[in-house]
Amino acid sequence: MSSGLPLSLAIFVSLLAVVHSVCAAPLGSAIPLSSLSPSSLASAAPVSATVAPASDDPNGILWTETSDVMPEPMRGTLGSNVLGPQNVPIDLQNADLLAPPTTDSGNVGNSKWPFSLSPNRLQTGGWARQQNINVMPIATQMAGVDMRLEAGAIRELHWHSTAEARWAYILNGSVQITVLSTNGQNYLATLNQSDVWYFPPGVPHSIQATADLPEGAEFLLVFDSGDFSEDSTFLLTDWLAHVPKEVLAKNFQTDISAFDEIPGKELYIFPSDPPADNAVAVPSPQGTVPASEAFSFEFSKVPRTPLAGGSVRIVDSTTFPIAQTIAAAEVTVEPGAMRELHWHPTQDEWSFYIEGTGRMTVFAGSSQANTFNYGPGDIGHSNARTSGHYVENTGTTPLRFLEIFKSNRFQDISLQQVSTVANIVHMRLTHALQWLALTPPALVKAHLNLDDQTIANLNKTKNTVIGPSKAS
Ligand SMILES: *[C@@H]1O[C@H](CO)[C@@H](O)[C@H](O)[C@H]1NC(C)=O
Ligand SMILES: *[C@@H]1O[C@H](CO)[C@@H](O)[C@H](O)[C@H]1NC(C)=O
Ligand SMILES: *[C@@H]1O[C@H](CO)[C@@H](O)[C@H](O)[C@H]1NC(C)=O
Repeated sequence: MSSGLPLSLAIFVSLLAVVHSVCAAPLGSAIPLSSLSPSSLASAAPVSATVAPASDDPNGILWTETSDVMPEPMRGTLGSNVLGPQNVPIDLQNADLLAPPTTDSGNVGNSKWPFSLSPNRLQTGGWARQQNINVMPIATQMAGVDMRLEAGAIRELHWHSTAEARWAYILNGSVQITVLSTNGQNYLATLNQSDVWYFPPGVPHSIQATADLPEGAEFLLVFDSGDFSEDSTFLLTDWLAHVPKEVLAKNFQTDISAFDEIPGKELYIFPSDPPADNAVAVPSPQGTVPASEAFSFEFSKVPRTPLAGGSVRIVDSTTFPIAQTIAAAEVTVEPGAMRELHWHPTQDEWSFYIEGTGRMTVFAGSSQANTFNYGPGDIGHSNARTSGHYVENTGTTPLRFLEIFKSNRFQDISLQQVSTVANIVHMRLTHALQWLALTPPALVKAHLNLDDQTIANLNKTKNTVIGPSKAS
């Protein structure tokens, strides 16, 4: 399944073997049963707590950004009010940072970045703002750009310097993309809201908003490298502006006057006439890109799989073969429901919130756990292997977000799912908040003191999004 799995599986299997041999020892020993007094049969004390049970305190979110309250760092009898200066709008948006659940502790590293805090780059025809490792050091595997193009505006012909690939999801409107493949084949596609594209490293491409939506388009770009910078791509105009014109003339075998009007510096984003919806690629002697190697995918046409409490749809290389380094899920969580406790065995999760509000507790092992609040335009993050997490809808409207991975395949490990067993070692069992349906029930009970009914009810099927909790 994943490259990380076999090793951890082996560790787990050997862990099980140890557990088994410990249990088996009394049976295999030579002491005759008849020689044992009743008291020595009770070799272990009855199950009793070696640590106090986890707190039952209600740990819900205490306010939201629309609450008519003065946000204070107080929960129950803990904390006290603010006497110094306070940024109230930010505190209203981040209730679980100011007044964390009592289950939070330590510091997992900042796992939220709102695009609102990114410096914007305004151009004639649009704008772009970015998140990368400079503003969110924990996110080393991926970086993001939020880009807006007015109808007809063009993100100019360019390519990416090093090894980065670019994946994109259209947030609103429609765009036309052009790409030249490495073997000279041409590609052109007109894409709609929720469709995706993927450009491998070094492939020159352009992006132009259509006028299908009179305002143009906005899209999310995701790069498979945390230190990507949108300001260090190779732009056609920037390059030509920095080559002596007589060299250009020689290169293109024309008169130098042909270059009289080329831009003196890069354009980056610039206005133009909207493209025709029925535009086709310029014929290339090398032909057009075959469908199996398409640079875009009509994700908007993939049906959402309904789940108790929401829905999910996935795009990865199984359906979009060229996307070898980015896999994504679009998840909807209804009010009162949550994306169940899970983690991803080999990859960091970079998420983007589209609508609604939610909270995520990132658990990083060693008792480190922090809860973050998210709303439209926010980026969330949890690290591979160590960080178990959930996403709960804290609002009254559906929560919709993208989970994005630097991977060719989407895979997650739910806490109730069979394959979690392999990753138990990473998850630090004693800190887990819920249990595994396919672990021997006695082992579950020994760790967590759950009653038989609760253990029997652990679901062996992965749910992804689960409904509101059952009334107790
Ligand atoms: C897209 O933009 C239009 C125009 O501003 C707006 O009316 C519409 O609600 C937006 N759609 C989404 C999904 O954000
Ligand atoms: C794009 O999406 C809009 C809104 O869902 C729809 O009306 C339109 O037909 C779509 N266009 C294409 C080309 O699929
Ligand atoms: C377990 O989850 C599956 C999938 O969501 C669902 O169909 C089934 O009813 C659940 N079983 C129980 C016992 O809750």
